[in-house]
Amino acid sequence: MQLLHYFRNSIFLILALGLAGCAGTNSAPETEAGASETDLSLAEAYAGNFYIGAAINAPQIIGQDTAALRVLAREFNSITPENVMKWENIQPGPDSFTWEMADAYVDLGEQQDKWIIGHTLVWHSQAPAYINETTDPDQLRTYMEEHIRAVAGRYAGRIDGWDVLNEALNEDGSYRESVFYKLLGEQYIVDAYRIAAEAAPDAELYYNDYNLNNPEKRTGAVRIVNLLKENGLRIDGVGMQGHYNLNGPPIEEVEASIEAYAATGAKVMFTELDLTTLPNPWDLQGADVNQNFEGSEKMNPYAAGLPDSVSTKIAERYADFFNLFLKHDEAITRVTLWGVNDAQSWLNNWPIRGRTNYPLLFDRDSAPKEAYDAVIALKQ
Ligand code: XIL
Repeated sequence: MQLLHYFRNSIFLILALGLAGCAGTNSAPETEAGASETDLSLAEAYAGNFYIGAAINAPQIIGQDTAALRVLAREFNSITPENVMKWENIQPGPDSFTWEMADAYVDLGEQQDKWIIGHTLVWHSQAPAYINETTDPDQLRTYMEEHIRAVAGRYAGRIDGWDVLNEALNEDGSYRESVFYKLLGEQYIVDAYRIAAEAAPDAELYYNDYNLNNPEKRTGAVRIVNLLKENGLRIDGVGMQGHYNLNGPPIEEVEASIEAYAATGAKVMFTELDLTTLPNPWDLQGADVNQNFEGSEKMNPYAAGLPDSVSTKIAERYADFFNLFLKHDEAITRVTLWGVNDAQSWLNNWPIRGRTNYPLLFDRDSAPKEAYDAVIALKQ
């Protein structure tokens, strides 16, 4: 399926190049985003390497955010639902499903011929109270099974890859004490992948987490892949979320993790890439994370705009990461940005609400940034 996608992309690329040749660069029409239509888009530039995806939110799915949708159509060939498929949204009660937004998401992906990701089937966060408050293991196992069968089953043959399990590890590589682990032990992981494979036999199945560059956590992720393989189950890829900043993590650490996951035979994906440019409360000496930083100028230094020097730093850091991805493009099948533009980014509101962050490749008006040019330049 993925090969087919690449094939289609290549045809598109050849056609686009042909058209570019005919049109000549001078007569190229300008898009609203400012890029010339005959320039290669991100998806076209990287078509021979990996998918370039974006997480999309509800206003985009229902067609409200038209500037972002134009960028999505042109620049990205994969999508991930930022929130609409999370358990609390798609199955808020044991017997109640709200399919509308998720259906619209998959419809949009098909209309635009995207590689469509499902996010996420089993996660302790953004799960409804009836899950987190369950105390009976049999009941929880049944809830989990019904959820996976209903959601993955509904989109079988339409969703191309599922984040089956999200964030099941602690930083030291041990299992997170989620309600699933507490009541069902490691077996819940085995069951989740077995049920997902039955419900969506054609979809790729992933394990997804943050800080997967961290060497201890890396050991945990490799253990999950091996656990599934030992049980005769399919795990197609490891998703490194990629919520990074301008100084960390070190590129070498990210590279060591790519190599470790690739060595298990799994594909590697960067599934939620963004680079925060703002100070982090956890970095402040003695900072109490529960302290209220809202409205603090010190914590929101670029509310009035981003200095050129910082914009250049972001661009260089993006280029460093994409150079690494290109170096490992045998293993890496997708790089997804966690949002289309800076206005949409969750990092405007996390870990402190109401800030002005600049973590993505398109600005608040969906125009390409210096970071976009830097990423494209690697392929020119
Ligand atoms: C975030 C969304 O971007 C926010 O809109 C929401 O309020 C919280 O979740 N890891 C994940 C994503 O796997 O689902 C999270 O998305 C970001 C961290």
